[in-house]
Amino acid sequence: MIDRFRIFMSLKDKIALDQLPEHIAVIMDGNGRWAKQYNKNRVFGHTNGVKAVRETTEACAELGVKHLTLYAFSTENWSRPQDEVSALMKLLLKTIRLEIKTLNKNDIRLRAVGNIKGLPASTRKELEFAIEATKENKRMELILALNYSGKSELVNAMQLIASEVKSGTLSPDQIDEKTISDKLYTAGIPDPELMIRTSGENRLSNFLLWQLAYAEFYFTSVLWPDFGKEELYKAIVEYQQRERRFGKTSEQISLTKATNA
Ligand code: FPP
Repeated sequence: MIDRFRIFMSLKDKIALDQLPEHIAVIMDGNGRWAKQYNKNRVFGHTNGVKAVRETTEACAELGVKHLTLYAFSTENWSRPQDEVSALMKLLLKTIRLEIKTLNKNDIRLRAVGNIKGLPASTRKELEFAIEATKENKRMELILALNYSGKSELVNAMQLIASEVKSGTLSPDQIDEKTISDKLYTAGIPDPELMIRTSGENRLSNFLLWQLAYAEFYFTSVLWPDFGKEELYKAIVEYQQRERRFGKTSEQISLTKATNA
């Protein structure tokens, strides 16, 4: 009887809500391959990927995750076929426009990281409108990485720091990790503790290079349009089973836990 009951238990019940990652970052991959399975074009995959965006956002908000960053478009993605790029930009614009109400209803703030000025004007305007319209929301932040490159973000930060040094407002020996973090697109947002990548690719692809220094990586072969709440719960359960040592030994971690208990 108990075993039968267990079969129907959602993985959600295994999540320790007091040990949730505060920030989850996701590389949404596999839309093109998903569409191919159905003999459809790649845009069909992206369109179906929106459902997974919605489910993942909803699941994170329900659990109490505070920040969710989704890698929606990298600077490298501009080199895809022109019709795919323009369909993706239109899809983004349409999705953002359609979701503002739901974001507000659920108290979710939309933010963006990346070179936003480099987006087509229509997409940029819609994005800026939604960011403004949701800026007072407090429950969770949905952060879209758009026209994003981790290396460019670091170059940009270095340039800002160099100009402060040049103008004399900052001296080189004052530069520490916080100086750099504060100059990134993600300034003020805590680093993700968990990074999920779908579709069986085990790469970082220029995503949040600085911010993911101590994150746990979770790779799944599930293609992004098939990713949903249960898949997210699975990733969080695995994250919670890992021991995060931050350079310390396992014994030191156990001792700290026992002292804090
Ligand atoms: C990667 O799959 C997916 C993308 C580059 C785009 C992700 C965009 C969406 C899910 C649509 C809208 C998003 C938001 C936030 C509204 P791929 O095309 O690289 O797949 P493949 O590796 O199988 O070719």
